[in-house]
Amino acid sequence: MIRLDGKIASQSVKQSLKIEVDNLLAAGKRPPHLAAVLVGSNGASETYVASKVKTCEALGFASTLIRLPENISQDELVSKVQELNRNEEIDGILVQLPLPKHINESAIIEAIDASKDVDGFHPISAGRLTLGLPTFIPATPYGIQLMLEHFQISTSGKHAVVIGRSNIVGRPMSILLSQNHAYGNATVTVCHSKTPNLEEICKSADILVAALGKPGFVKKDMVKPGAVVIDVGITRMDDSAHPKGYKIVGDVDFDEVAPISSAITPVPGGVGLMTIAGLMKNTLLAYQNRTTAS
Ligand code: GUN
Repeated sequence: MIRLDGKIASQSVKQSLKIEVDNLLAAGKRPPHLAAVLVGSNGASETYVASKVKTCEALGFASTLIRLPENISQDELVSKVQELNRNEEIDGILVQLPLPKHINESAIIEAIDASKDVDGFHPISAGRLTLGLPTFIPATPYGIQLMLEHFQISTSGKHAVVIGRSNIVGRPMSILLSQNHAYGNATVTVCHSKTPNLEEICKSADILVAALGKPGFVKKDMVKPGAVVIDVGITRMDDSAHPKGYKIVGDVDFDEVAPISSAITPVPGGVGLMTIAGLMKNTLLAYQNRTTAS
């Protein structure tokens, strides 16, 4: 069984990004600049945004963190995003999700200039991805692809089953896996809450991607021996034994499933680290598109 270690794979991606940024700086150019918008103080969002900003610093990217109050109106948030769109110094914009209930997430995502949409959530980015055109690939599916590439896990001709159809992970992952490129060319089944025979379908997967957000959902009897298992789950569970008061739990019962899989991502230390690597690659791409555009 290969442990698909996100630390190792993300280090390798980040190392090459750092070299690219060092070269830019050595040539007297400015670094790529990511703006992260955090509304309110959701604990998990705080943690994710902090690691995004920290990774920017480590790689030599510039970053700006914009903290906005929980009760900001939708119009005010749209104005803030438009201001970032106009800011020539900023290459990538991300608005951390989820947003407070009174704000329509689609309206905010659509307000982001598609050329700065490093999350790949804008309809233009999603449409281009679907058509196989160059675009920003949402960071988690992109990170999973980078992980497969790092460990040279072939997907061509395999049956890939994706559990979950979210716009952020499941849907774009299923599109990427089915497309005609390296680390694509799989036959893909997307499962969701209305899928009958879910266990049976999962059991027929050569590659199983669990992205439904239910801790420990995937059990041993749902996995074909020798399958590659990608766990996207990152649920916080109360745990008084842990110094932080919680632990991060994946969608896969790792202890049960790992012994029968050929390769598996741990949680934590798997896909989560790759998501940030994907975001950083998108930010460099946004910079390159903007600075080399005529
Ligand atoms: N919330 C959960 N995942 C993500 C992500 O990849 N980007 C943003 N902006 N918010 C998220």
